[in-house]
Amino acid sequence: MANRRVGFCLSDEKKKRMNLSTFAEFCRLRGTEVVEIDLSQPMESQGPFDVIVHKLSDVIVEAEHDSQSRTLLSNFQEYVSAHSHTVLLDPLPAMTQLLDRFASYRIMNKLQKSLRDWGICSPPYLEINTGDPSAIREAVERKRLSYPLICKTRVAHGSGSHEMSLIFSAKGLGDAGPPCVLQSFVNHGAVLHKVFVVGEAHFTVERPSLRNFALGPCDRETIFFNSHEVSKPESCSHLTALDENTPRLPPPSQEVMVAMVKELRRELGMALFGVDVIVNIQTRALTIIDINIFPGYEGVPQFFSSLLSHIESVLEHRETASLLPSPMVP
Ligand SMILES: Nc1ncnc2c1ncn2[C@@H]1O[C@H](COP(=O)(O)OP(=O)(O)OP(=O)(O)O)[C@@H](O)[C@H]1O
Ligand SMILES: [Mg+2]
Repeated sequence: MANRRVGFCLSDEKKKRMNLSTFAEFCRLRGTEVVEIDLSQPMESQGPFDVIVHKLSDVIVEAEHDSQSRTLLSNFQEYVSAHSHTVLLDPLPAMTQLLDRFASYRIMNKLQKSLRDWGICSPPYLEINTGDPSAIREAVERKRLSYPLICKTRVAHGSGSHEMSLIFSAKGLGDAGPPCVLQSFVNHGAVLHKVFVVGEAHFTVERPSLRNFALGPCDRETIFFNSHEVSKPESCSHLTALDENTPRLPPPSQEVMVAMVKELRRELGMALFGVDVIVNIQTRALTIIDINIFPGYEGVPQFFSSLLSHIESVLEHRETASLLPSPMVP
């Protein structure tokens, strides 16, 4: 069997979290060599690669203000453009847009139109670029956003990006620090469904989530929280505790999940991503609240085998495509 070489370009933290060395051994036993790419060294001497899997989120965000990161990123891009035979998982522009909540919420809004027949939606939201509470108030009223509102930073990557707040009335709008998005809060019985996609396959795990709140404006102080205290497997917070009388909703139907994942894959052009969905307790609509790049796949024991299968299938496609006659040039 031909030995395939797959380069992984990940931060040390991500390598540890995904257990890259165990995955490398898993691949080695199946005829695929995993190579850890060191971005600070010339890519040429580390190649050739059949596939490169990467999560360059840190570098992309840092490149905005740091010239060293900009150089690393452009060396990487140059290598990829010069080696069209190497398959990149996933394309850089597709990933970059998900690091910006303004861009990712526009995608969710667009998907909502193509998925309306499946009853899939995403909560109404506003892009906030001003710190002027009266301007924000006007925009909230114009858009008819319902309270409570959840406020999320525009940047979707890095430690600060998980600092959020719940705003209960116009009085709290001064707590929305721009640039950010304000999104209507949807009661969902404190259950988050994390959908993890690997190529054609997807897996769903349940996580704790924010509890229900009374709908409509109320005289309550803004609640500031970190989303990682809420929706990690080990999260346990007073914000996620439901009272015992709250009925549990049935999980979303597989058919609807399949339709959503298929449409997202087509729209994003990505293979490794996650979608966070909740079920609206009033309307039962499957509601998309977040799309994540190359997520942790925690609670998905099939992750290694699915990732290797996806890499193999991508390469099979590449080989079949190279056997086809090239299009005629007039
Ligand atoms: N519109 C909403 N209505 C109700 N709850 C919400 C809404 N948006 C977010 N949440 C809650 O807040 C949590 C964090 O939101 P979100 O997934 O957008 O943040 P994140 O920090 O980007 O997440 P991740 O860790 O997946 O990157 C969700 O897991 C969910 O519990
Ligand atoms: Mg999330």
